[in-house]
Amino acid sequence: LSRHDLEGELVLVTAGGTREPLDPVRYIGNRSSGKMGHALAEAAFKRGAKVFLISTSEAAPHYQGMETYCVDTAEQMYEKALELAPRSSIVIKAAAPADYRPQTSFEQKIKKSSDGLSVQLVLNPDILAELGKRKFPGQILLGFAAETQNLRENALTKLTRKNLDIIVGNLVNIPGLGMGAVNNRITIYTKHETVELPEQPKTVLADQILDYLVSYRSKAGSH
Ligand code: PMT
Repeated sequence: LSRHDLEGELVLVTAGGTREPLDPVRYIGNRSSGKMGHALAEAAFKRGAKVFLISTSEAAPHYQGMETYCVDTAEQMYEKALELAPRSSIVIKAAAPADYRPQTSFEQKIKKSSDGLSVQLVLNPDILAELGKRKFPGQILLGFAAETQNLRENALTKLTRKNLDIIVGNLVNIPGLGMGAVNNRITIYTKHETVELPEQPKTVLADQILDYLVSYRSKAGSH
């Protein structure tokens, strides 16, 4: 089945977990592989969109006509996302940016000491919340919520607080699903609707998420 329902659209996708440096060789990271975001970027590209992909992973797809940017930290992702979002009619934030980063990234490798090591963490900017503040009429913002409990409540709180149109909730404490896995199980939430999608490969879910987004937008536009 080939759909070309995103022809002429500019779609911004973020993917992967950020790496927040402690010193030249160490970082604080998470288990996000970028698979979900890459699948969404590829699916949007195949449906005719011009795609901007910001990814932390070396496995990010490169196609002629797709602009792929590689970043490491949440601050770098923030800069790039804020630069590209004003041109994008659809923004999809599948990345897992770190909420905190080490206050200091040491210039030299930290030496081992019998005293142990304390690291002071400071808050990173919330990219999606900032994009929510800057959302323009007609722009669709789709976020994700990675939770280990209270999926519905936590996802709906993020939907409202970050001024999103759609949020895709997933539990990230089920073995074989979610972060790093090939498969996932998701629930799509909007202000008015909840749609559960059973376990499937992320490549299949990506098209189903885009199907949902396209139909959501056509309904929103018809009011
Ligand atoms: O990458 P994979 O291995 O394929 O795994 C996919 C996934 C589990 C990472 C993906 O499905 C997912 O849930 N992504 C969101 C991860 C996350 O950071 O969730 P959160 O609930 O902490 O954040 C909520 C939303 O705010 C997310 O859209 C996130 O991109 C965004 N955010 C978070 C922190 C921050 N500083 N800036 C943000 O924009």
